[in-house]
Amino acid sequence: MNTYNVCLLPGDGIGPEIIAEGCKVLDAVGAKHGMAFDYTEALIGGCAIDACGEALPAATLDAAKAADAVLLAAVGGPQWDTTDPNRPRPEQGLLGIRKELGLYTNLRPVQIFSALADASTLKPQVIDGVDLMIVRELTGGLYFGERMRFYDEEGAGPGGSNGQRAFDTLEYREYEIERIARKAFEAASKRRGRVHSIDKANVLETSRLWREVVHAVHDADFPEIELVDMLVDNAAMQLISRPADFDVVVTENMFGDILSDEAAQITGSLGMLASASLGDGTALYEPSHGSAPDIAGLGVANPLAQVLSVEMMLRYSFDAEAAADDVRRAVTTVLDEGWRTGDIKDVGTPADKVVGCAAMGDLVAERL
Ligand code: IPM
Ligand code: MG
Repeated sequence: MNTYNVCLLPGDGIGPEIIAEGCKVLDAVGAKHGMAFDYTEALIGGCAIDACGEALPAATLDAAKAADAVLLAAVGGPQWDTTDPNRPRPEQGLLGIRKELGLYTNLRPVQIFSALADASTLKPQVIDGVDLMIVRELTGGLYFGERMRFYDEEGAGPGGSNGQRAFDTLEYREYEIERIARKAFEAASKRRGRVHSIDKANVLETSRLWREVVHAVHDADFPEIELVDMLVDNAAMQLISRPADFDVVVTENMFGDILSDEAAQITGSLGMLASASLGDGTALYEPSHGSAPDIAGLGVANPLAQVLSVEMMLRYSFDAEAAADDVRRAVTTVLDEGWRTGDIKDVGTPADKVVGCAAMGDLVAERL
């Protein structure tokens, strides 16, 4: 029996509800595959701001670093929203833990569950065969560049406002591009062998460096992979006009943030998408969706993205392919049987097939 330490970061909103279902499924699949899990819970995001005045307390970081893997649910809520640069924001917890754990690779798979094919707003013939993986650089670029807000005459301009200015900086170092490119090519070599590298090389200097480095890695070590450069505005269009042509999509932090929400919408069910954030140490797994404060505490949230992030944890942190496959099969079965949470039901779903968060977790655990 292998025992793993998992650090749980429930966060805010629906976080505590969905993470409970993630653990339920982890325990169920562990029992079947000879794995046990010890859980340590810590604060992140808005709840951490309320309790400790900061979104990422040192104790949370210590607990995360000491664990074999981190399972995060979601952070944020209207009570912590602010544009004041001097007040803490829940997202700082997320950005801080990504940086501190060195999680530079963010994998966001986009796959269609055939039972949910109708949920997409795109035509069935367009989404047929969609199976892509966004590889988003997660610890560089605009998110972590120098930024500032200040007052001066230029900020005031001819209108004579109070004269504020602000800037954010987009910077990439060669090694940061090289290591994420490598991850993308490695992913593609286990998939359909195609990488789209997304940049804005017609305008941005960072993108021109990005393109050079990606090609150098390709030509030196992955010549058998098909590499396609695409400008980000064009990529935004192609992703919804011919999504099935994409296999691996590699891009910098900000473009990846935007394109991954767009790609999620291809499936029509953001509540189904998981993500893995990997570095050289402890990895972190979380749903791609937010904390849904409007339905927090009602027991109706969809826990399946959290459950599928458990699948990714089994695959990438614990090398437990068979257990990971089991989780995916169980989710597929439950959906094929017609069970739905509110966000993924449609007009034809019978009322007795619509279940809440805990019941959905029970169904997946039972099928395991
Ligand atoms: C995501 C989220 C985060 C990001 C926010 C919450 C800071 O949108 O994980 O995509 O922008 O990275
Ligand atoms: Mg995002």
